[in-house]
This record gives sequence, structure tokens and C-alpha cells, in this order.
Amino acid sequence: MVKPDGVQRGLVGEIVRRIEARGYRLVGMKMLQVSTQLAAEHYAEHRDQPFFSGLVEFITSGPVVAMAWEGPGVVAAVRVLVGATDPRQAAAGTIRGDLGAFLSRNLVHASDSPPAAERELGLWFAAEELLDYARGLDWWSMAWPPAGG
Ligand code: PPS
Repeated sequence: MVKPDGVQRGLVGEIVRRIEARGYRLVGMKMLQVSTQLAAEHYAEHRDQPFFSGLVEFITSGPVVAMAWEGPGVVAAVRVLVGATDPRQAAAGTIRGDLGAFLSRNLVHASDSPPAAERELGLWFAAEELLDYARGLDWWSMAWPPAGG
């Protein structure tokens, strides 16, 4: 997800480009204004953290772009592309390391495990919003079918 700061700063294209350039396949994408209820559900595991209310306030402060990406090892690979939670600790070359400067404005959310990705896809997308298709490029950029690792 491109968070509201990424949308406001005009970085949607840059963030999509970096994931797309790795060869992963975009299978769902939408812009939405997040409700407080969806934000609270999405971040439910952090509800007891001191930053929870600020996080919900931030994620509902403007439109976000939710995305679903597919490909071998995509969840772990996108976490690496995104970089450490705090942009000041994120490596150069990562989205946060190159484009961010503050923990509470860290531009993107990326699922931290395949089960988390499943849960979050269910929260953010209806089944018909996730597309099942192949690209000619997939033969060159990833194992096909994806079970190839
Ligand atoms: S924890 O405590 O390890 O579970 O937290 P962490 O995984 O580092 O972060 C969980 C999400 O909360 C965001 N976060 C914050 N937002 C605003 N302010 C502060 N201080 C803060 N600390 C953590 C962090 O970016 C994570 O959200 P996502 O959307 O996954 O990046």
C-alpha cells in the first residue's frame, strides 16, 4: 500500500515502478479513502501500542493506493525493497531509504508474511478485484507457474 504521504508527495508511480521493475505481476490496484474501521482492522495487532491512534489517524488522513502483487517469494522480496520501518535506518536503495525520512511518514505498508498477506488481501480487496492472468514477460522474469520458487 502506498500510504497517504506517498500519494500526497506524488510518489505512487515511483513506488509502483520499483516493484514492477523487479518483474512482479500487479494483480490488483485501487485508490481509496480508508475508513477508521478498516484502518483499525488492518492494524489490529498493534492496537495496544502507543502509536496506534496516530497510525490510524495518519492512514485515514488522505487517499491510499492498495495493491496486490504476485510472483515467487514476492512477500519477502517486497519487504526488502521497502526497507526498514524507520526510513532513517532503511538502507539506501530501498523505497524508504531513498524517499523517506520519518518513522511516522514511511510511505508504504508491505505485508510481513504470506499469512498476513492473505489476511490483508481479504480486508482490502473483493475476490473479483484480484485478477488471474499471465504475461509473456513472466517467462523471462519469474518461474511460471509460481511454484517454481
Ligand atoms: S512493532 O511494535 O514491532 O509491532 O511495530 P512495527 O512492526 O515496527 O510497526 C507496526 C506498524 O506501525 C507503524 N509504526 C508507527 N507509525 C507511526 N508512528 C510510530 N511511532 C510508529 N511506530 C511504528 C509501522 O510503520 C508499521 O506500519 P506499516 O504500515 O506496517 O509500516
